[in-house]
Amino acid sequence: MTGKIIGLGSYLPAKVLTNDDLSKMVDTNDEWITERTGIKERRISDPLTDKPSQMVVKAAMQAVEDAGIDPKDIDLIVTATTTSDLMFPTLSCVIHRELGVSEECGTFDVNSACPGWIAAYNAAQGFIEGGNAKLVLVAGVECTSNFVNWEDRGQCILFGDGAGAAILRAEEGKPNQFIMRSSGKRMDCLHCDNAMQPARMNEEGFKELTKFNMDGREVFKFAVTEVPKLIRDLAAKFDFSLEDVDWFVMHQANARIIEATAKKLKVSLDKFPMNIMRTGNTSSASIPVLLKEMKDNGQLKRGMKLVIASFGGGLTWDANYIEY
Ligand code: ACO
Repeated sequence: MTGKIIGLGSYLPAKVLTNDDLSKMVDTNDEWITERTGIKERRISDPLTDKPSQMVVKAAMQAVEDAGIDPKDIDLIVTATTTSDLMFPTLSCVIHRELGVSEECGTFDVNSACPGWIAAYNAAQGFIEGGNAKLVLVAGVECTSNFVNWEDRGQCILFGDGAGAAILRAEEGKPNQFIMRSSGKRMDCLHCDNAMQPARMNEEGFKELTKFNMDGREVFKFAVTEVPKLIRDLAAKFDFSLEDVDWFVMHQANARIIEATAKKLKVSLDKFPMNIMRTGNTSSASIPVLLKEMKDNGQLKRGMKLVIASFGGGLTWDANYIEY
């Protein structure tokens, strides 16, 4: 058995933060941001009405509606997030309550930075293939605006908030085809320490510790080196040709990273859909948000062959080959 995506949902907060808005906050400008990242604007959540626990429920409800299922039939919920408004319970538990899911359904969250949704998807597929779940909700949500260093022009221009979700249903088919990789030794180039640890509470600069720390140049080099290699390895492992792939659905972190990946793979950039200009980097929400947009605008059709790939803090980088 394998899990087929039968429904998609997404939610982006209403507030738009443009590059011009950012140029009033830090020393930057629209031209620099557009040229270096492809981003024109991003969505920023309202701290009262767009908490991660609220955004993810909206995306989950839309995915349930899109799939045409009764939420009572969901037997597993997995949510990817690094920026939850709750230490516990999990956001999967919040979804469980708000959707009125049965107590026969298991729940847990996954933290794997930007590739979190892929990690959650792979975990869900493991449950389905093992016969332990038939209908799974896989969500991703981030409110990076709460953790970005708004004084660092090298990072605050990149991120945006949002949520996405998919429903997977067990069907006959090939097992999940994926590769997951990590490099703990490179964790320092992208991390966010938890300042609430007792040893940290009284440290000088403790507020800084609650913010993202990122060496953008290192992350850029890592992504343009490892992601094309990962996709080539995926094609070799599962014996498919890159030419036969309909869409390469990449984590929306930087348009230049996507362009460099297309070039290294010698695949037309037209096969790399992008919404980063409107969303910025929504971290673990980025892939389901893009998939939902592609479904809505008719780009995504049954039977299409997709490569989905993501990378981020950890460092981590994951890719899947999916027959949609
Ligand atoms: N506006 C104007 N100038 C800027 C800005 C800005 N927003 N940011 C940096 N600069 C300046 C720098 O200070 C530097 O100036 P200098 O030459 O005088 O020192 C110059 O522009 C070039 O800086 P670089 O860092 O070399 O610029 P680069 O082309 O690498 O772009 C960027 C920086 C956009 C951050 C890029 O490196 C990047 O996108 N990296 C990947 C980051 C990423 O994707 N992170 C998320 C990963 S996913 C996750 O898990 C969260």
